[in-house]
Amino acid sequence: MKVLRDIDLTAYNSFGLSQRANYFISIDQLADLAEAVSFAQSLGLPIQILGGGSNVLFAKDFPGVLLHMNCKGIELLSIPKLNDGERLLKVACGENWHELVKYCLSNDLYGIENLALIPGTVGAAPIQNIGAYGVEFEQLFVELEAYDINSGEFCVMDAPACEFNYRDSIFKHSGGKHLIVVSVTLKLSEVFSPNISYHALKQTLGATSSSPDAQQVFDTVCSIRRSKLPDPQVVGNAGSFFKNPIIPLSEYQSLKQQYPELPAYDTGDEAMVKVSAAWLLEKIESKVKSKGGAAVYSKHALVLINQGTATGSDIIELAQLLSDSVKQTFGIKLQAEVTVV
Ligand code: EPU
Repeated sequence: MKVLRDIDLTAYNSFGLSQRANYFISIDQLADLAEAVSFAQSLGLPIQILGGGSNVLFAKDFPGVLLHMNCKGIELLSIPKLNDGERLLKVACGENWHELVKYCLSNDLYGIENLALIPGTVGAAPIQNIGAYGVEFEQLFVELEAYDINSGEFCVMDAPACEFNYRDSIFKHSGGKHLIVVSVTLKLSEVFSPNISYHALKQTLGATSSSPDAQQVFDTVCSIRRSKLPDPQVVGNAGSFFKNPIIPLSEYQSLKQQYPELPAYDTGDEAMVKVSAAWLLEKIESKVKSKGGAAVYSKHALVLINQGTATGSDIIELAQLLSDSVKQTFGIKLQAEVTVV
């Protein structure tokens, strides 16, 4: 195990912020985890887990020990008694999510193609229960393995134990902060069945095919994402900065009288609807557009970008100005999707 000191984090966060970490340890094998954790504990320092750094905002330098989860491996499990064509894939936390999607496609394993081009690692996917274009991570999820910092033991967690919710899980809350995801087991299918229920996907595919193959779905998701989301290699960002707020139906109905075009989506709960945060932000955008080196992305109001010189506090201040303005105009409280460290 190699302990690095005073490391610049620019390459480790997709906002491209040049904050620093006091200690940095790359966890390349699970055997190193216990040692890394006791190293931090012996110094009385906080631990922060880092995957691809694509959903994290370093507000300032991190005074503790950053554990960069870098374990690799993809294993197709041979478990009998699965339904026809279902296969289980166990994937180590440090694998890149988009590379996994490509791996599945080239190995005729389906169900994951709508989640193409989501930045970050496999170990980070359950933390915020990633989702896009009509598919949520939890739909593919079977179980995960986590290291419990408190007990020093590994444990296996099923979906109820992970408490998945829209862009949320137990790992984002105090009940799960002591757990480090080390591998994830997903259920995929050898039989392709397209899920093109998401409006933008159906519309874009509609022009070319109504019964697309997996490669077409994958390519279309990639091209939609590329057309509206900035490439973090070029422009620092962390995808959607805020969640789409979930509000009571009655509140939505009264807002709709004033704003008839306000888009809303199903939540599975009749009493609640999910409204488009991007739409709310566009409405107030004339008032707030940038702060220092941070700005609202021109093609998607839900994305905050680093124009090159942003500091963590520029981004936090911009986010605060935006959410204050949304609160003032619509009475809706925006919640960050990004984890602030
Ligand atoms: N819209 C606007 N203005 C915009 C963009 C979108 O009004 O600038 C409205 C439109 O009504 C549009 C609708 O929002 O039809 C949906 O837009 P989009 O497909 O971009 O979805 P989103 O709700 O803005 C969510 C996820 C994205 C994910 C897309 C596609 C959240 C917080 N974000 O965005 O996830 O890629 O759906 O499924 O749920 C991420 O989490 O980082 C992320 C990029």
